[in-house]
Amino acid sequence: MSQRVEMERHQLHMERVEQANQALNKAAELATEDRFRLGYHLMPQAGWMNDPNGLIYWNEEFHVFYQHYPYEPKWGPMHWGHAKSKDLVHWEHLPIALAPSEDYDSGETGGYGCWSGSAVDDNGVLTLVYTGHVDGRTPVEVQCLATSTDGVTFTKSGANPVIGDAPEEGGFGFRDPKVWQHDGQWYMVVGYGKDGLGKALMYTSSDLLTWRYLGIAAESNGMMGDMWECPDLFPLGDGDDYVLIISPMNMGATKTMYLTGKLNYETGKFDYRDAERLDYGFDFYAPQTLVDGQGRRILMGWMNIWGAQMPEQVDGWMGAFTLPRELTLAEDGTLRMQPVAELAVLRKGRVFVDRQVIPADSTVSLETVQSDQLELIAVFNTKESDVETVFGLLVRCSEDGSAYTEVAYSVAEQTLRVDRTHAGSGEAGVSEVQVEPMEDGNIKLHLFVDRSSLELFANNGVKTITNRIYPNGDSLGIKLFARHGEACLESLDVWELSL
Ligand code: FRU
Repeated sequence: MSQRVEMERHQLHMERVEQANQALNKAAELATEDRFRLGYHLMPQAGWMNDPNGLIYWNEEFHVFYQHYPYEPKWGPMHWGHAKSKDLVHWEHLPIALAPSEDYDSGETGGYGCWSGSAVDDNGVLTLVYTGHVDGRTPVEVQCLATSTDGVTFTKSGANPVIGDAPEEGGFGFRDPKVWQHDGQWYMVVGYGKDGLGKALMYTSSDLLTWRYLGIAAESNGMMGDMWECPDLFPLGDGDDYVLIISPMNMGATKTMYLTGKLNYETGKFDYRDAERLDYGFDFYAPQTLVDGQGRRILMGWMNIWGAQMPEQVDGWMGAFTLPRELTLAEDGTLRMQPVAELAVLRKGRVFVDRQVIPADSTVSLETVQSDQLELIAVFNTKESDVETVFGLLVRCSEDGSAYTEVAYSVAEQTLRVDRTHAGSGEAGVSEVQVEPMEDGNIKLHLFVDRSSLELFANNGVKTITNRIYPNGDSLGIKLFARHGEACLESLDVWELSL
C-alpha cells in the first residue's frame, strides 16, 4: 500500500473514531439514571460493552479495551472502547481506540466490526491484534493489527489482514487472537471450531506481520462446546505449567473453562490434564489476562452473559467488567482467583462481628451497615456448626424482608449457593458449586457487593461465583442466618467501599 493510500485509510479511521466519540459523549450526557451504575467496577460511560480486549500493562499503566457499541446500549458493529489505570482500581476513560472502517472489518449488516483480541508491547509500540469480522452469507473472520505510540490513537496496519484465512475450510468461527512473546518469538492462540469441537489454534511469528500455523493447541473432548471463544494461554506458577482459559459456545450452563497442562512451543501442542469450570455464576464470560510489572497474572472478565435480561439497557448503558483477579496455581494444580490486593484502598469504616453462635432458624441483622457498595469476609466454622445446618448471609435486603440475595452454605452437602430468586428485577436463578471446608474446618466467604453485582470468592478463591443482581436502591440491609441447625460464625468483617 502506498504511503498516500495508507494516510487516507488512517484519516478515514480517525473520522469513524471521532464520530463514535461524539455519539458516546452525547449518549453519556443522557445516561443519567444511576440506579444500576456500579460504584467501583469498570463499565462504559454509555452504550454497550462486552468482552475485555487487549488487557496490558504498558508504560507502567494498565490499559484495557473492550467490545463496545457507543451508539446504543445494545450489541452492534463493534468498536474498541478504552480505559487505563495506574492501580487497577481508579479508571480513566480514553477515546475509542478502534472503529470499523475497512472492508475487512465493515459491512452492510450489523454483525461486522473490530471483534475481540489482545494487545502486546512491540518494542514500545502498543500493538492491538483483533479479529475483523464481516457478515455475509458466510461470515468472514480475519486477524488484524493496529498500532499506537502514544497509547491513545491507533493506526490499522497496511498489511491487514495479517492472517486472512483459517488453516482449513469448513470451520465455525476463527477469532479472538491472544498474542504473547516467548524467547523472542510471538505466539498466538485463536478460537476455532470444527465438526462440533471447540479448538484453540496456534500460530507463531517473528514480526507480528507474517504468521506460521503451528497446529491445534488443544480441542474439546466432545463435551466442551463447539467453538472456543476468547482463548488465553499463559504460564502460571513456578514450574512449567500452562493454563488455557476458554469460553466455549454451546456447553450448557458452563460458560468458561480453564485447562491446565504443558505447552510444547515446537509443535504448538498444549497437553491438558485437567479441565474445570472457571466461575460458577451466571455473569462471567470471555475473561482475559495480563501480566503486570510484578509478574502477577491478572484476569478481568465480562460481568454479563449473552441472552440474559439486561435491565440497565433502558438506562442507556450495558455491561461491566469483573473486579481484577489475581490468578495462582495451588499445590494440587487447581486455579485460585483472588481479588487483587489494591482493592483494599476502597475500604471505608470497618465493622467487625466477633465469634458467635447463630441459633437455628434465626437471622441476625447488622444494624450498623446499610450499603450497596460493600466488601464482606465471613468465616464460619463447620466443625462447630450442626451438620444439617445451612448458614450464610443475606445482602441487599429490603426493610420489609421481601427482597434479598442469599449466599448459603450447606454443611451436609458441602454446597455453596447464591440465590437471586428474591434479588429484585433481572434474571433469577441459583448458582451452585461444591466447596469443601478448609483444613481447619472453616468456610470463608469473601463477597464484593456493588450496586448491581455480587462477586463471591470462596475459601481464598478456590471457587468463585459472579452474578449481576438488580435490587431496588433502598434494599441495603445485611443479615446473617442459620437454618435447620445452629451455625458457628468465627468472624465477620464488613467494609463500605467507595472510590
Ligand atoms: C465473545 C464474542 C467473541 C467475539 C465478540 C464479538 O463474547 O462472541 O467471540 O469476538 O464477542 O463482540
